[in-house]
Amino acid sequence: MILSQRSLVLIGILTFVLPSAHAQHQRLGMEGSNPVQRGQTLFDWVWEPTTLPRTEGKSDGLGPMFNARSCAECHHQGGTGGAGSKIHNIEILTVRLKALDLKNTTIPGESNSKKITTSNQAKNGSPLNQSLDPETIAKLHAGLSNSASVLLHKGSLNSGYYDYQKFLKESNHDFSIEIAERNTPSLFGLGLVDKIEDSILIEQEKRQQTLGLSGRLARTPDNRIGKFGWKAQKATLREFIEEAAAVELGLETPKMHQASDPRRALQNATATDLSNEQIDSITAFVSNLPRPPQADARNTGLNGGQIFYAIGCGGCHVANLGHVKEIYTDLLLHKMKHDLHDPENYQIFGHSKPLENAKNHAGALPGEWRTPALWGVGITAPYMHDGRALSLEEAIDEHGGEAEKSARNFQTLEVDQKMQLMQFLKSL
Ligand code: HEC
Ligand code: HEC
Repeated sequence: MILSQRSLVLIGILTFVLPSAHAQHQRLGMEGSNPVQRGQTLFDWVWEPTTLPRTEGKSDGLGPMFNARSCAECHHQGGTGGAGSKIHNIEILTVRLKALDLKNTTIPGESNSKKITTSNQAKNGSPLNQSLDPETIAKLHAGLSNSASVLLHKGSLNSGYYDYQKFLKESNHDFSIEIAERNTPSLFGLGLVDKIEDSILIEQEKRQQTLGLSGRLARTPDNRIGKFGWKAQKATLREFIEEAAAVELGLETPKMHQASDPRRALQNATATDLSNEQIDSITAFVSNLPRPPQADARNTGLNGGQIFYAIGCGGCHVANLGHVKEIYTDLLLHKMKHDLHDPENYQIFGHSKPLENAKNHAGALPGEWRTPALWGVGITAPYMHDGRALSLEEAIDEHGGEAEKSARNFQTLEVDQKMQLMQFLKSL
């Protein structure tokens, strides 16, 4: 496993390897007085690629695809592990597979009937100038051969990637490709969330009808209750962290392959970049992050608290979940306004596509979002899953769907009531 120090940043294609890097990494993984400290070092660690070919059986560090070079690069607002600004949003690309059915046909009802063909050639010469079929879709992005949605990575060790990325984003108007974003949430207090018992969440789901709501539990493909991620797509903190390492940083882990170049078929790394023990350490560090600090302004927000419940915010943003006090979420999936929806064909990675009306289908539908916890919400702007709301008021305006009534109640508040509510929210 090869790492080098933060001060020795190597960008792009590397031409040398630091002789002491391996030893440093050994220290990184094996020393440190406790797992939490080792985990923090790994969370902050700025990963770099190595020049060693994979065939040598050595780990290859960062990449080949990555969204950032460290966990902390995205999770840092208000301290290590915090939320992230919009520039760190990750991008998810979804292709409308419906178009497949229409291959080589004209689109009915289009004003100037046209074939579904690509109008542009990828600048790097990929043979994309043909009609859409599954093979072409896979050529577009190898990950699309088994999922309707894939991550569109920001960074690659291959500079040719950037032209390809531009092509996907800008010049493919005849493809039905849509890009959705995810904003970086804060990780404070997640160790407590990890320990919330299923029975507590099942209770929340049962209460929905009495509240006039229809929130539901997210289930993983193996039928465990999902708690983590904007779609509640992962059941445990450790699993989320292992996937984040593989997907965001391109680190091969014991259970997850590092993200591979979308222009090529899956290429597995021949060695892991992170050991189980190291993933345990990162998990220990994140689990150990305290809940967000409660502001002193808390007491002045008391009326705001009453307003919060009176206008129905507390239906979804439930104050206490079992032993976890003042978290303000039910961790259930709720249908939100149409404008917030993921692309129609969106599919959570690794899930089969949920059926719109099937009971107990596993993953979240395109229009469903897990209620975010409101603890610490004063310092986690921007808000909502894609960071579209810059202020708390904007976030409330963006609700709709199941929260339509509650959001409308908010509009009818007097100015000073709104202010009290804001004060309350900021004190959480
Ligand atoms: C490129 C920015 C970026 C990097 C790098 C990154 N994350 Fe994240 N993180 C995100 C985003 C965006 C989400 C929300 C993703 C989603 O819900 O689909 C997230 C979600 C999470 C969650 C779930 C939070 C919740 O409330 O359920 C955990 C845990 C997490 N990240 C840990 C990590 C760890 C550990 C690392 C390093 C191995 C890491 N992240 C690297 C952006 C990043
Ligand atoms: C039907 C359930 C529901 C109700 C009722 C509800 N919310 Fe939400 N809230 C959500 C969901 C789900 C999201 C995330 C949606 C998204 O990201 O697209 C959210 C997001 C938020 C956010 C942004 C949090 C973040 O970290 O980005 C704030 C702030 C918020 N709600 C406050 C309120 C307030 C105040 C009220 C009352 C006026 C309210 N909510 C009523 C479900 C609800």
